[in-house]
Amino acid sequence: VTTVRPPQTPVVAVRFDGRSLRALDQTLLPWEERELVLDSAAAVAQAIKRLAIRGAPLIGVAAAYGVVVELQREPAEDALERACQALRSARPTAVNLAYAIDRVHAAATGRDDLVAAALEEARTIEAEELEASDRMAAAGAELLSGARRVLTHCNTGALAAPGRGTALAVIAELAAREGVETVLATESRPLLQGARLTVWELRHLELPHALIVDSAAAGLIATGAVDAVVVGCDRVAANGDVANKVGTYGLALAAREAGIPFVVAGPTSTIDAHCQAGSEIKIEERDPGEVRQALSAPLTVAGTACRNPAFDVTPAKMITALVTDQGVARPVNGNTVRAVLERRARRP
Ligand code: MRU
Repeated sequence: VTTVRPPQTPVVAVRFDGRSLRALDQTLLPWEERELVLDSAAAVAQAIKRLAIRGAPLIGVAAAYGVVVELQREPAEDALERACQALRSARPTAVNLAYAIDRVHAAATGRDDLVAAALEEARTIEAEELEASDRMAAAGAELLSGARRVLTHCNTGALAAPGRGTALAVIAELAAREGVETVLATESRPLLQGARLTVWELRHLELPHALIVDSAAAGLIATGAVDAVVVGCDRVAANGDVANKVGTYGLALAAREAGIPFVVAGPTSTIDAHCQAGSEIKIEERDPGEVRQALSAPLTVAGTACRNPAFDVTPAKMITALVTDQGVARPVNGNTVRAVLERRARRP
């Protein structure tokens, strides 16, 4: 069943309906729009593990509601601990998961009204992420003014974060303000978040776009076909190093060589002040079977040994600017990242 969504209808990737967490199953897109109904922390953790729910800010929000749905089943401190543990271990790299779970855990611990306390915190986190998306969009569009041909990687839109997303929100806002000539989207092997999800979102946004294989990006950048590279992030270290979808580092190298801006967009919830440098970030290694196939079709000799790191780290010095909900860090270093976090701490 393929649902044809009217253009420009906002995409809502997860929503709490008062009882269950409902999530668009991203493993089925772009061919089928099916909503999952999730009623336990284990079900939410499983959906995050298999990337039915994905994207750093989105998995944080989903996990926060995952704690809520578990507490609705069993409103007890034991259940709170178990839910937080199960959800925290779903994926290791995006810090938003631990960030959101820690907040809900702290809000609910020791409270008689565990469910209400957890729900209020989950709703607050979701509202903050929505606002962050709009703020990043505005700051990023201003920063990138004049860029007409932008290249992006993985999926960073409404499927990856509440609201309009991160990097894709910046691109959409730039297009709304000034127009863009084209958005080049990388396939993002092995799970094809670019080919399946970003292209799907770009169609809904009605933005001119072209899909490229990952290995075409560096060459196109070198020939002058791209004005700026704009990507999201899964964890930003205190020194400004950024972990993002595997392939990001190669794009940064190509952008530096070509002398074009390499811009990262992410909410302050993706900054991990406890992580001093990118070398401390745990990079998720996923099932090698994902590399051996594409959309379930075998690609290579059965049983071929594969490596499947899901992310890589780009050093701060290679990033032109980090666009956050609390302003732009530029240059990207320990001082500018700290300044952004201090602004967040001072917000009302
Ligand atoms: O493995 P995924 O699909 O969850 O990876 C997501 C990304 O790397 C995105 O680019 C990222 O979360 C940043 S923007 C929301």
